[in-house]
Amino acid sequence: MEILLLNNVSIAYGGQGPVVRKVNLAVKPKEIIGIVGESGSGKSTLIRAVLGLLPLGGMVTGGKIIFKGRNLLEYSRKEWRALRGNKIAMIFQDPGGSLNPVRKIGSQFIESIQCHLDSSKAEAYEKAIDMLGKMRLPDAARVMNSYTFQLSGGMKQRVAIAMAMTMEPELILADEPTSALDVTIQAQVVREMMELRNRFKTSIIIVTHNIGVAAYMADNIGVMRRGELVEWGTKSQVINHPQHEYTANLISAIPELGGCRLV
Ligand SMILES: Nc1ncnc2c1ncn2[C@@H]1O[C@H](COP(=O)(O)OP(=O)(O)O)[C@@H](O)[C@H]1O
Ligand SMILES: [Mg+2]
Repeated sequence: MEILLLNNVSIAYGGQGPVVRKVNLAVKPKEIIGIVGESGSGKSTLIRAVLGLLPLGGMVTGGKIIFKGRNLLEYSRKEWRALRGNKIAMIFQDPGGSLNPVRKIGSQFIESIQCHLDSSKAEAYEKAIDMLGKMRLPDAARVMNSYTFQLSGGMKQRVAIAMAMTMEPELILADEPTSALDVTIQAQVVREMMELRNRFKTSIIIVTHNIGVAAYMADNIGVMRRGELVEWGTKSQVINHPQHEYTANLISAIPELGGCRLV
């Protein structure tokens, strides 16, 4: 049984033509889905719609977004709010974006845990330290006592992922979570996300313009182009037997992928 089903989803901004057209997609528990495609193809628009977080003017103009059997488009504002951060969490490209620069990590992290879970401050602190450790952040106590400007991009992104994971969401939507990081850190963060999936059985949709990252991480890959999902299949189907010329070009443009080494 799927945790998330997109059924003919179309999305438009401000009464203009759709920027996402009739997308169908299925996510099962514990699956990692990679969505790739050039800039402007509608990737961010698509996953933001799942959380009801479209930028102003954005609207789902057709289709259904079914999460655990219910169409999210019929949710009330209150139901959306309860869903966000609890059952579905989002991780953004800019790891600093979700963190407050003038407060220490620890106080934000503890507040976020206490806001979602019924726990004392001491319990929340322990939980935060534990999750930072699982993201392999060395010296978690020092991280808790730091401001964002004292952390590298990779550390901030791990903190953001740790904060999201503490809520044990069933689905994580990650929009280019590693694109702002340098290559070695990217690989580490990707590996840690995969470990978290194994540990918590979380489903993950990861948007990336790097098909190499998707090939490494994902069970299924979707390729978007000009608002349409032009390719969808298991990782090995998509990488070894792309149906669309556009996908084949993306694959051949990644030298380190070398055809199918990662699959
Ligand atoms: N806030 C917005 N208002 C109007 N158009 C937008 C807005 N955000 C994105 N778009 C348009 O929607 C299309 C898809 O954008 P986006 O989802 O950001 O693509 P991607 O994440 O694949 O780069 C683009 O043509 C972009 O110009
Ligand atoms: Mg985007």
